[in-house]
Amino acid sequence: MQRAGFFVYAAHYVCHTQCMMYTESPVLELAGVSKGYGGEPVLRGLDLSLGRGVHALLGPNGAGKTTLINILTTLVPHDSGTVRVLGLDPATQAGRIRHRISVTGQFAAVDEVLTGRENLVLMGRLLGLRPAAARARADELLERFEIATAGGRRVATYSGGMRRRLDLAISLIWPPEVLFLDEPTTGLDTRSRIALWDQIRTLAAEGTSVFLTTQYLEEADQLAEQITVLDGGRIVAQGSAGHLKSLVGGAFLRVLDGSGTVVQEVATDGSAADLARVSAEVAATAPGLRVELRQPTLDDAFLHLTGHRAHPTEDSADRPDDNAPHGLEVAR
Ligand SMILES: Nc1ncnc2c1ncn2[C@@H]1O[C@H](COP(=O)(O)OP(=O)(O)O)[C@@H](O)[C@H]1O
Ligand SMILES: [Mg+2]
Repeated sequence: MQRAGFFVYAAHYVCHTQCMMYTESPVLELAGVSKGYGGEPVLRGLDLSLGRGVHALLGPNGAGKTTLINILTTLVPHDSGTVRVLGLDPATQAGRIRHRISVTGQFAAVDEVLTGRENLVLMGRLLGLRPAAARARADELLERFEIATAGGRRVATYSGGMRRRLDLAISLIWPPEVLFLDEPTTGLDTRSRIALWDQIRTLAAEGTSVFLTTQYLEEADQLAEQITVLDGGRIVAQGSAGHLKSLVGGAFLRVLDGSGTVVQEVATDGSAADLARVSAEVAATAPGLRVELRQPTLDDAFLHLTGHRAHPTEDSADRPDDNAPHGLEVAR
């Protein structure tokens, strides 16, 4: 019993010190961070504090995601506010930050003329590895990212998924404490996307903190413990996927016709009374209709928070700027 007691105590102690460690030094910290281009505000006073783990910055085209990645990775300066990456200031300690992070940009940054292996060896050498070590690391990463058989082929012949995996492999030549991924799966087919998700999950499980941007709600839902919703340069919500969904409240009542096709969706507050009321209205409309419940998705949450949907293909310029809700509105 005493032994068990000791272990419980030890476990508490370890947890306590680790929790203290994590809360005392956030991986990323922003306070009132603003950035503009040519007098146009792009980021408008961001406050954010993130610990270890996988975080998704979710927002439509033009929301300011890449701008924030560029600031956090020391590529562009911010205008005002405070930025800390692993406790370091990008304005004065950029070199130290760069040693501890890695970034995979929105567009694959690999050399098309070189083979996959040559790209990796070249980067390894640029990062200071000796030739033999650079070759060994290249082979290890080619294997890990399932591009070993294509390692000797020119990148120009690679599929989009292979390029992305190579890009990710390159950013891991020197294992970073924090990996920044700017829209890692945009433009990829479903199979490549799922393969990349698996790779990101493995990295996270090995202890690398990941900060990724995405326009895909499903991607944020799949990968991230914490999601920050960015819209028009402002943080409009933050929390787990479950928390964001819960902000929508209620549940949707789907109306199905005899063949099982959804003909209508009605937002309810989720209470028995509201569901009974809507069901009664549906029953009065036409005989033979059926209903089923649908819980809010992250898509509903995004619409609820921003007033528009997050369509990956839509340009921000085409985005309706009014407050008129599109599709469903949640009854309160
Ligand atoms: N270097 C730049 N010069 C001028 N405007 C820029 C620059 N980079 C980004 N912007 C503008 O900032 C806004 C946000 O862009 P960006 O951060 O790329 O958004 P996202 O990555 O979310 O699509 C856009 O309106 C874009 O045109
Ligand atoms: Mg971008």
